[in-house]
Amino acid sequence: MVKRITVMPGDGIGPEVTEAAVEVLRAVARRYGHAFQFTYAAIGGDAIDQYGKPLPDETIAVCEASDAALLGAVGGPKWDQQPSHLRPERGLLDIRKKFDLFTNIRPVKAVPSLLGSSPLKEEVAREVDMVIVRELTSGLYFGEPKQRSPKSAVDTLVYTRAEIERIVDQAFQIARTRKGKVTSVDKANVLETSKLWREVVEERMTAYPDVEVEHMLVDTAAMKLITNPRSFDVIVTENMFGDILSDEASVITGSLGMLPSASTRTDGFGIYEPVHGSAPDIAGQNKANPTAAILSAAMMLKYSFGLHTEAAAVEEAVAGVLEDGYCTGDIAGEGKRVISTGAFAAQVIEELEREFVSEHIMYS
Ligand code: NAD
Ligand code: IPM
Ligand code: MN
Repeated sequence: MVKRITVMPGDGIGPEVTEAAVEVLRAVARRYGHAFQFTYAAIGGDAIDQYGKPLPDETIAVCEASDAALLGAVGGPKWDQQPSHLRPERGLLDIRKKFDLFTNIRPVKAVPSLLGSSPLKEEVAREVDMVIVRELTSGLYFGEPKQRSPKSAVDTLVYTRAEIERIVDQAFQIARTRKGKVTSVDKANVLETSKLWREVVEERMTAYPDVEVEHMLVDTAAMKLITNPRSFDVIVTENMFGDILSDEASVITGSLGMLPSASTRTDGFGIYEPVHGSAPDIAGQNKANPTAAILSAAMMLKYSFGLHTEAAAVEEAVAGVLEDGYCTGDIAGEGKRVISTGAFAAQVIEELEREFVSEHIMYS
């Protein structure tokens, strides 16, 4: 299979973790006989430095000519004082909007060998397996007016019925492939957008009688995520609630460096991006956890290319390396061997090659 992949490393640890993911994708291509063509493009602070803006036309053109994109992270102290339209984060928001990537899929899965790395008790974190479906192209991030005057500031939370319908439908469909439960998270006791959201969920659920639905207020959801995370299967929620809840959910896995994501629409192009940011505090030290980026690449194989065997092989290789006790500093603990970002990727590739050889021996 020939696929064109855009790589947007971005800022901070972005280049380090995307390099790890690209190396893993190269190993997948070698092992399974695919041709992945990588084209690099600038976004965020990297693009501001090179082109004077966070999302250059050149980057959009490269994405338009590709089948999927891998993104590292954007942002950092260097650009924090810039006006809003010249901040690195603007580039990320604009590219999501440009390609109408309204569905952000964020799986949260507890890894058995890392239960000790989570601040939660083992019996709470054990066997957690949920997906946060975050609306990504509307809500408070994009609503107009968005204004600033010396004495006040305005952000606007707007959702149309159609925007809610399409994300809720995505969540129902994902739930059907899993345990069949959707928790819709809102703030319907206060917000008009949430009341509409709840109404739409009630309407759409009639088309999915096989899926169990519960409504939950976002403050309660924040508490339940930590006290009883196993009670969730699919969480569907608006843009900002999803942003906050997913960082919270990452502690179940032991680190923000563990959570991958897919930013997609119902067809075509998608951007695969770790949930974490550019981590300026550890950037350039070859110690960031590349798991989120590598698992995001696995999501690309699955969702954009339909390569399910290859995606599962990457996931198993990552699990194998973690089980062997290798990890980066963020998930260090008793009996663990802390290695660098690059060394972790190399271990994943070695494991992938070992898996492939043993399958080959089994079936030939
Ligand atoms: P962050 O996610 O970058 O970091 C939060 C904490 O988690 C830090 O202590 C960091 O060291 C740690 N961490 C994150 N990823 C890690 C990894 N892979 N391995 C090990 N540790 C990891 O959040 P922040 O510090 O609040 O934000 C820094 C910058 O990143 C800001 O400019 C912010 O806007 C941006 N940001 C970008 C994205 C994105 O590009 N998708 C997401 C979140 C934040
Ligand atoms: C994320 C990030 C972004 C978001 C920022 C950097 C704009 O936090 O991808 O989770 O809030 O969507
Ligand atoms: Mn975030």
